[in-house]
Parts: sequence; C-alpha cells; structure tokens
Amino acid sequence: MPQNSGPPATKIQLLDSDATFGWASIVLHWITAIIVVALWYFGKSIFNGPPEESDAMRGLHVSLAASAWLIIFARSIWRLRSGHPRVKGQSVRIHRIAKLAHYIMLLVLGLMLLSGPLLVWSGGNSISVFGWLSIPSPLSASEALREFAWFIHSNSSMVLLALVLLHIGGALKHLMFHSDDTIARMIWPGRCTAKKGES
Ligand code: HEM
Ligand code: HEM
Repeated sequence: MPQNSGPPATKIQLLDSDATFGWASIVLHWITAIIVVALWYFGKSIFNGPPEESDAMRGLHVSLAASAWLIIFARSIWRLRSGHPRVKGQSVRIHRIAKLAHYIMLLVLGLMLLSGPLLVWSGGNSISVFGWLSIPSPLSASEALREFAWFIHSNSSMVLLALVLLHIGGALKHLMFHSDDTIARMIWPGRCTAKKGES
C-alpha cells in the first residue's frame, strides 16, 4: 500500500514572502481598511449629520474605535516587523516610494489612535465601549490638552483621507494600466507575477 496516496496537502501561506503577502497581512489589511473607513464616516457624521444624532454618532465612533484600537495597533506593528514584499518586476525606486507612502499612512493612523483617547480623557470623560465597558480617564481634565488633541485628531483625519484616496487611486492605476498583480497579491497569497512579458 503506498503511504501518501491522497492528494498533496495544500500549504496555507500565513506569513509574507519576499514577493507576496500571506494571509495574516491580507486579513489584517482588509479588516482594518473597513474599520478605518467606517470610523472616518462615523467621526465626520458627529458634526455633519442631523444635530439630534450627534451624541449617538459620537458614542458609536468612540465605541468602535476603542474596540478596534488593538487590531489597528497590532497590524501596524505587524507591518513594521514583517517588512515589505516587493512586487516582482517593480523598480527599487517605485518600491521605496510605495513603502514610504504605506509607512506615512501607518504613522497618521498612529496619531489618530493616540489623539482619540486623549480627546475623550482630557475632556474629563471615560471611554465607553457600547455601554458594556468604561475606561476611566488616567488624566485630569484640561481644556488646553483637549484643544491640542482635537487639532491633531481633526487634521490627521483629513491627511488620512487624502492618503487613502491616493492609495486607492494608485491601486486602481495598477489594475487598469499595468498588467501586474499589485491588487491580486493583496487578495490572495502567492500572487506575484510581474508586468506581462517581464520575468
Ligand atoms: C483610525 C482611527 C480613527 C479615525 C479614522 C477617526 C476619525 C475621526 C473623524 C474623521 C472625526 C471628526 C473630525 C472632524 O470633524 O474634524 C473624529 C472625531 C472624534 N474621534 Fe475619532 N477617529 C479615530 C480614532 C479615534 C479613537 C481611538 C477615539 C477614542 C477612543 C476617537 C474619538 C473621537 C472623538 C471623541 C471625536 C469627536 C470629538 C468631539 O466631539 O469634540 N477617535 N474621529
Ligand atoms: C478600497 C480600498 C483599498 C484598496 C483597493 C487597497 C489596496 C491595497 C493594495 C493593492 C496594497 C498592496 C500594495 C503593494 O503591493 O505594494 C495595499 C497595501 C496597504 N494598504 Fe491598502 N487598500 C485599500 C484601503 C486601505 C486603507 C483604508 C488603509 C489604511 C488606512 C490601507 C493601508 C494599507 C497599508 C498600510 C498597506 C501596506 C501593506 C500593509 O501593511 O497591509 N489600505 N492596499
């Protein structure tokens, strides 16, 4: 009886390789992308939506942000530790620019994660997570600190919007004008072909 008669076992690629993203990066990218877009929308709705819904929107924004805090933090550390796979055929210069753009996005996300809680606590409030959990303020209330946190949070949100729009535009450009796997490799591990015709 042959011992290995079944179909070959499929290997699940969890970690990144030199040229491809693994499942850990792919899942973290899309979960956090959805959460960040939702946080941005709920954050803006605090002031731009109907005034009677403002408190509910603030509560939803803070609860979701506090629940997602660790995931967003963890995905940023994950990227810093696991490096940046380079698309096969991509020039070193373009790879460096893409890498820098991603790191700037993560830096701005970090500013949002720091200034958000500071904004709540410096106003003398606790962070309430869907009414189930309350994280009390470790700080004493300070209007100057609140203004500073607001300045950082509000301006970082606009910078993040611009960066994410550029990021999506860049991804669409690859999809429409370059026949490479830049988007495909952020959807399925192991996709790393160069522009058609390149090795
Ligand atoms: C990636 C994470 C985050 C994003 C994208 C985000 C986005 C936003 C946006 C767009 C606004 C409205 C700003 C404006 O109208 O100028 C806002 C407001 C606000 N954010 Fe965030 N935020 C994030 C994280 C957090 C966190 C972690 C907290 C606290 C736990 C927080 C607490 C608040 C509060 C309290 C306001 C309203 C401030 C007020 O009512 O005066 N945010 N956020
Ligand atoms: C529809 C929306 C989005 C699309 C189509 C998209 C697409 C992509 C693609 C194709 C890559 C791989 C680029 C490469 O191979 O060099 C990537 C990487 C990345 N994206 Fe997005 N993205 C989206 C939303 C977002 C959002 C909202 C954020 C953060 C606020 C984000 C942050 C990043 C970061 C930091 C990377 C570097 C790899 C990583 O750490 O995951 N993306 N994205």
